[in-house]
Amino acid sequence: MKSNYITLRGVRDILPEELSQWRNVEDKAREIFKRYNYKEIETPILEFAEIFTRSVGEETDIVRKEMYTFKDRGNRLVALRPEGTAPVVRAYLENNLYIPGKITKLYYIGPMFRYDRPQAGRQREFHQIGVEAIGESSYLLDGEVISLLWEFLKSLGIDKVTFLINSVGCPTCRSSYTEALKDYFRLYKEKLCGDCKIRLEKNPLRILDCKVESCKEISSNVPSILDYLCKECSVHFTEVRRLLESMNIPYILDTSLVRGLDYYTKTAFEVVVDGLGLSVGGGGRYDGLVEEFGGPPIPGIGFAIGMERLINVIRDKNLISFDERNPYYFIVYDTLLASESLLLANKLRGKGFTVDLSFSIKSMKTQMKESNKSRAKFTIILKEELWSEDKVVVRDMTIGEQKEVYIKELEVL
Ligand code: HAM
Repeated sequence: MKSNYITLRGVRDILPEELSQWRNVEDKAREIFKRYNYKEIETPILEFAEIFTRSVGEETDIVRKEMYTFKDRGNRLVALRPEGTAPVVRAYLENNLYIPGKITKLYYIGPMFRYDRPQAGRQREFHQIGVEAIGESSYLLDGEVISLLWEFLKSLGIDKVTFLINSVGCPTCRSSYTEALKDYFRLYKEKLCGDCKIRLEKNPLRILDCKVESCKEISSNVPSILDYLCKECSVHFTEVRRLLESMNIPYILDTSLVRGLDYYTKTAFEVVVDGLGLSVGGGGRYDGLVEEFGGPPIPGIGFAIGMERLINVIRDKNLISFDERNPYYFIVYDTLLASESLLLANKLRGKGFTVDLSFSIKSMKTQMKESNKSRAKFTIILKEELWSEDKVVVRDMTIGEQKEVYIKELEVL
C-alpha cells in the first residue's frame, strides 16, 4: 500500500517483530547493569544546545556538522541530543545526585540524533544504551566499566570482539601533546583539508579524527600520545591495561584512538565486532566534565552502545533466537462458539498466555491459514460436539499433530 508521506532520510520505523528483539536486548542490559548497581535515568531529548557545544566540543564533527540545532519559539538555541553523557552530567548536577564518598551509577536507553550521512550502521536517529559512573577516579572503575560492557556483549552471544584502548591524557599532558601535534601537522599544512587547517590552530587533536583520506594518511605517522603522558596518567593507563589482561578482555592498544568527542581524559576505548569494521560502542573517562558544567571537580567514566548496530550483529550472526517464552495460541471456532472463543482467549490471557483469534465468520480452513500466518505455536479448535464435554482440539503447529484436550489442561501444554 502507498502513502502520501514517508519518513525523513536517516530515520525509520521500528516494526513490531524487530522491536520485540530490541526489548529483549534492553531487558538483558537492565539485568546486567543491575548486577553492577546501576540505576536507570531518562533525560529529555531536547536540551539547550550549549551543553553539547561546551562538552562535546565546538570543533568536533558532531557539533559542527551533525547536531540538530534550532531556535525554539522562545528564541532559545536548543538541540536534539546527539549523545547521552552531557545530559546525564547536567542532570547529575541539576538534581544533586552527588553522594559523598559514593559513585553515582546511571544508565539510559533512548534515541539520539546526528545529521550524519545515512549508510549502513549510520542513521540520523539512532538509539544508545549507555552507562555513566560519576564520582571515582580509580583505575579500578575503568576496569569495572569496560568489563561491564564486555559482560553485556557476551550475554548476547557477542564474544568475538576487540576493544581498542588508548589514553588521551589530562589537560596537563594534553597541552604538551597538542604542541607536538601542531609542530607535526604544520609540516603538512597545505595537504590538510579545509576543516583540518582550522583545527590545526584551534584543536589539533581533532585532526586525528578526520574522515578525509589525505588527512588520515598524514595522521598515520603522528607522534604517539603515550610518549607525552604525565606520570599520573601513565600509571593509571598501565594499571587499566593490567586489569584488562587479568580479566582476559580482548584488547589492542590503538594510540590513534581519540574519539569524536572532546570531553575525554585518560582512558578512551571503543569496541569493534571482529569482521564488522564499525564500532558497536565506545566510551572513556571524562574527569573534567562535571567541573566544566559548573560543579566540583568530580571524575566520571562511561560508554554507549549503538542499539541498531548491536541488533544488526545479533541478526547477521544469528546469535540468539528471541522466541516468545509463552506458547502462543490462536483460536479457531465454529460460528456458534464465537463468543465462547473470546471468553476462552481472555481466560488464557489472564493466566499470562499470548492469545489471538479470528474475528469474522470464515471457514475453518481460512481460519487455520490465518493461524499459520500468525506463527502461533498452538491452534485451539473449538467444536460444538466437544465443547459440551469441556474439551477442545489442540494442534501443535510446529509438528502438525492434533489431539483433544480438556480446557483446564490448556495451561500446561
Ligand atoms: P559515540 O562513540 O559517539 O560515543 O557513540 C557511541 C555509539 O553510538 C557508537 O559506537 C555507535 O554504535 C553509536 N552511534 C553513533 N553515531 C551513530 C549513528 N549516526 N548511527 C548509528 N549509530 C551510531 C558517545 O556517544 C558517548 N556519549 C559515549 C560515552 C558515554 N562516553 C562516555 N560515556
